[in-house]
Amino acid sequence: MSVTLFDPTQPEATTRQVADYATFDDSSDGTDSDAELMHSPDAPVKKVFIATQGCQMNVYDSEKMGDVLGDSHGMVVTDTIEDADVLLMNTCSIREKAQEKVFSELGRWRKLKEQNPNLVIGVGGCVASQEGDAIQKRAPYVDMVFGPQTLHRLPELYDESTRQHGVKPKNRIGTVDVSFPSIEKFDFLPEPKVEGFKAFVSIMEGCSKYCSFCVVPYTRGEELSRPLDDVLTEIDSLAEQGVREVTLLGQNVNGYRGEKDDGTICRFAELLHYVAHVDGIDRIRYTTSHPLEFTDDIIDAYHLPEMVSHLHLPVQSGSNAVLAGMKRNHTIDVYINQINKLLNVRPDMHLSSDFIIGFPNETDADFEATLQLAKDLNFDHSYSFIYSKRPGTPASDLPDDVPLAVKKERLATFQKVIVDSTLAKTQAMVGTVQRVLVEQVADRHPDELLGTADNMRSVLFKASNEQKVDLLGKFVEVKISEFVSPHMVRGELVGVLR
Ligand code: SAH
Ligand code: F3S
Repeated sequence: MSVTLFDPTQPEATTRQVADYATFDDSSDGTDSDAELMHSPDAPVKKVFIATQGCQMNVYDSEKMGDVLGDSHGMVVTDTIEDADVLLMNTCSIREKAQEKVFSELGRWRKLKEQNPNLVIGVGGCVASQEGDAIQKRAPYVDMVFGPQTLHRLPELYDESTRQHGVKPKNRIGTVDVSFPSIEKFDFLPEPKVEGFKAFVSIMEGCSKYCSFCVVPYTRGEELSRPLDDVLTEIDSLAEQGVREVTLLGQNVNGYRGEKDDGTICRFAELLHYVAHVDGIDRIRYTTSHPLEFTDDIIDAYHLPEMVSHLHLPVQSGSNAVLAGMKRNHTIDVYINQINKLLNVRPDMHLSSDFIIGFPNETDADFEATLQLAKDLNFDHSYSFIYSKRPGTPASDLPDDVPLAVKKERLATFQKVIVDSTLAKTQAMVGTVQRVLVEQVADRHPDELLGTADNMRSVLFKASNEQKVDLLGKFVEVKISEFVSPHMVRGELVGVLR
């Protein structure tokens, strides 16, 4: 699928395209109990365009939206908006800017609907969850509204929307569903279909940490972990389809507490051991983790060779006073201590983090402490955002008292430190041997293969025609000889792992 991504981790990023995946193969056996949802083989194939804002969780959910509509209605995903019969927007409300983009983009979609009145428009994700039917009040041309936990009900919502075509939003029934129906979503999702060697696997939904600035607990609900068996069955199926690297997803992923068959609870560290034992899976990533849940048993799991030498552990600020205001419930010493323990197990660990700049009451001294932390820990890369007041969060009652000009200046100063360390880290790869998952022939360099190193840098290396077939999906060793760009290097193949 082509997911059109507005990336809030890159506040000013423009729309871009990410990962293609297989179009739907209608392999339904006709035993589905809800026969009216079945796709008639004679009907023309409908196309769905899905635009995605926000985190990897949303990218994962968007793939699932394509899968469910494929399964129920034989729809195929298109990346050409003009060809689509159905337009879905998977939204993010983490910061105000992302939320505002929803309505400006919907304004563009309205024009498409004026040209093609049969177009069905759906809004899902966190803005939908937060706004509910207010979306249709502001944008009456939106046919259906669904939340992150109800995307599996898209087929019913779509049927209701087409049945009630032309009916005013306030008179429509059953075209808005932003409820939190426990974790049933995963029971209704079709088997994952993948193309390529990497896949996301959502292992838990929601967040119960209630950091004072964050809307996630309100838009995605309280934490709920998928049962262990469900997660492992999905990963087994991905591995059988050739996946070599999984990224376990959750808003508070290391807080995973999934039920086992015997009724006991599997914690995150134990899950990592199970996943590492799945045949074919040789690289495990996860995001996003909270420092409080980054316990010693997880650090110990880094003895497993499948664990990637990269950790994204958001700290948000280097000041204890700001951390307390954010209700992160730990101090900087706790964070540094955990990182040091991890570096003892894995000295080659690459670290990244998220930072919020200009939280209420952030003084120059608080900001200096954040800057110092970034310099001391020498992050591989990091995301940093200006604090955005979110309605309904505890921090929204605090005076947003850091002037915007000061926030912007601090952000620029901070990002310079981060960009410089990213650059230095990439340059320092020259001369080292990196473990690389080979993913494809490089688009712009057809005599080279392209893969990803542990630290997410893209790696190019020359390959023969035979190698261009044989090495796809394999882990190889590449000796880095050249810096190409802050996120890309080039080298020579020195070994094939498996
Ligand atoms: N679960 C993750 C965070 C998910 S949200 C964690 O434990 O940190 C992704 C990032 O968005 C956060 O890490 C934070 O840096 C940023 N963010 C969240 N709410 C924000 C707000 N109100 N203003 C600015 N940035 C915010
Ligand atoms: Fe948000 Fe904090 Fe959870 S940042 S997602 S409430 S860990």
